[in-house]
Amino acid sequence: MSSRIVVAGGAGYIGSHVSVELLSRGDALLIIDDFSNSHPEAVERIRELATGDVDLLKADMADEAQRDMIVKAVRAFKPDGAVHLAGLKAVGESVAEPARYYRVNLGSALTLIDALKAADAKTIVFSSSATVYGETNANPVDENAATGPANPYGRTKFFIEEMLKDIARSDPDWRVVNLRYFNPVGAHPSGRIGEDPNGVPNNLFPFIAQVAVGKREKLSVFGGDYPTRDGTGVRDYIHVTDLAKGHAAALNYLATCAEGCALDVNLGTGTGYSVLEAINAFKRASNRDIPYAIAPRRDGDIAEIYANPERAKKLLGWRAEKTLDEMCADHWRWQSQNPDGYTS
Ligand code: WQD
Repeated sequence: MSSRIVVAGGAGYIGSHVSVELLSRGDALLIIDDFSNSHPEAVERIRELATGDVDLLKADMADEAQRDMIVKAVRAFKPDGAVHLAGLKAVGESVAEPARYYRVNLGSALTLIDALKAADAKTIVFSSSATVYGETNANPVDENAATGPANPYGRTKFFIEEMLKDIARSDPDWRVVNLRYFNPVGAHPSGRIGEDPNGVPNNLFPFIAQVAVGKREKLSVFGGDYPTRDGTGVRDYIHVTDLAKGHAAALNYLATCAEGCALDVNLGTGTGYSVLEAINAFKRASNRDIPYAIAPRRDGDIAEIYANPERAKKLLGWRAEKTLDEMCADHWRWQSQNPDGYTS
């Protein structure tokens, strides 16, 4: 069954892979993006990788002055639902600029909610994050674990989850899935779309990839004295194409779930890898050296977190399939074929 889906933030790293996945199953898309952390070329690459209808609306969903225009465009598109990925996502930046993060992330969500209500399409998959979990949970972490985001970015994700649940309680026409991403990495196997961070990468994989391709001299490993198997941080890395399939599975679930359903779901593999293990896997995939030095711990980091992925398997019929080596091989293909990202 093909649908008409609004993909807010559809030109971004995750959004572009979700867009390709939904187009590949026959959906028609309205991509809304302001290109503040993405590139128009990504939309051209999406169209190259998957046939199907892709309308594009360049708009800032957090700008009140553009709200009416966005609502009008969404109504005209006649959507069945939306995937909401638009927002700011740099943890450190959120600590420095919390008001901006609350305004942009919550404002964007509220504009999309208004637009979906006006279009009578009260179905939404929200791009949430494992960062909503507190630091005290035992691994693997399931969706009933204690929440307690440790930074403003994580709190915006948590607040939007709660806002969507309140809305579903107030109006059972709404259907909601909050997808709690663990650590998305990798790229589409074609090498044509991938992660293209602005400036110095905050996250591990894009930094490693830029060292491998010679754009960065060496990696700083933030902490070598954590209580983990090799002293470095452990995370649940998930291939971005597996993540994209999780969004399609969530939309399928929402098409048949009970009125007012509102579900939190982990998207992770259930396996954690350390920073040193990720470095070695990337060296194998790229056949390049990855110089690194152990540096002090990064504020706000936790030692180890990886998902219990059982709810996604049971309720969405989805589980991650790609290995760490495949994540590294696909990430390397994107980086080596596009050393300067979409401006290469
Ligand atoms: C992974 C590991 C670092 C960089 C965050 C957000 C999450 C999502 C992904 C947006 C940690 C170590 C990192 C480096 C390093 N954000 N590291 N050197 O912090 O788990 O998750 O990014 O979508 O919501 O919370 O990801 O990739 O930054 O760090 O040693 O240069 O790599 O200490 O152990 P993180 P990350």
